[in-house]
Amino acid sequence: MEALMSNWLNPVETVPEKYIFPADKRPGSHAFPVMHDIPLIDLQNPNPQHITQQIIDASQRFGIFQVINHGIPASLMEETMAVMKGFFAGPAEYKASLYSTDIAKICRIYSSTLNYDSEDVHYWRDNLTHHCHPLQDHIHLWPQHPPTYRQVVGAYAVETRKLMVRILEAMCEGLGLKPDYLEGEMTKTQLISVNHHIPCPDPTLTLGMPQHTDPNLITVLQQCSVPGLQVLRHRQWMDVPPNPAAFLVVPGLQLKVMSNGKFWSPIHRVMTHRGEARTTIGTFLIPSNEIVIEPADDRPAVYRGFTYGEFFSCFTRSNCDADTALAFFQTNSESTSLSHV
Ligand code: OGA
Ligand code: NI
Repeated sequence: MEALMSNWLNPVETVPEKYIFPADKRPGSHAFPVMHDIPLIDLQNPNPQHITQQIIDASQRFGIFQVINHGIPASLMEETMAVMKGFFAGPAEYKASLYSTDIAKICRIYSSTLNYDSEDVHYWRDNLTHHCHPLQDHIHLWPQHPPTYRQVVGAYAVETRKLMVRILEAMCEGLGLKPDYLEGEMTKTQLISVNHHIPCPDPTLTLGMPQHTDPNLITVLQQCSVPGLQVLRHRQWMDVPPNPAAFLVVPGLQLKVMSNGKFWSPIHRVMTHRGEARTTIGTFLIPSNEIVIEPADDRPAVYRGFTYGEFFSCFTRSNCDADTALAFFQTNSESTSLSHV
């Protein structure tokens, strides 16, 4: 069977066996509580100190927040979403020509997870991912279908980078660091990662994305109107209500390290949807492999310093479980303060 689900004949009548989780790992048929209290931060608030305080508070207590009035035009968000949907609805041969499981490829499409070829069960997901920064080094490798892809996504990549840098500056200020503390090597790589889930005939049997913590520095996510994202809170999966006008901000594990365990990086996963396809656009900032990540304050360090390259090789060896990878770098100090969930 062809790996790329968006190339399958629509609609899919039953969940193929390779996508059915063992009974104890299925999401099940019960309803999940909705996370109505995700902080919503207005970036046009006239009081910048208030914005900084809200960002710090949200990163410490929820590890996830939404921003509105973020400066990225609604028209650019809508166009980018339309281009991404157009890409996944586009010619099967074109998508197949970009298929690769090699993480070193600058631009590629793959299905399920990094482990498609070795995993026992596949996740219900296609993913398009490519590097974005600096633009001129990568844009010539991006998709050319739909024909406006490079122009629209190029503008989007520049804007989302600015937004993430602005949020990082506020985080640094709020932690008493220089605002540009995370600029340069800490934010060297920018990736776009587009998840596409075709409608699933039985969402109780499978998942769109595994339970995970983002291994990078910071993620901003543009959602469409179809729900699916869930966050684990107090050992309970909760639905994140989609807000297509907002960006959802997810501090990655490197921010948790840099903040010496003050920030929270939430465990999340994606459910499938019976009636509609779901497309989300994630933009990640990632440190260079050589840079040392370490707690920035002078309290007893919860983590010992490591290079991002060291962390990433632990991550791939830990079956892409970022929390397991990070545990290798945890010191014994205050380790109990890290158990939010
Ligand atoms: C991710 C992620 C959630 C979503 O890309 O890391 O968690 O809703 N995405 O697509
Ligand atoms: Ni994630």
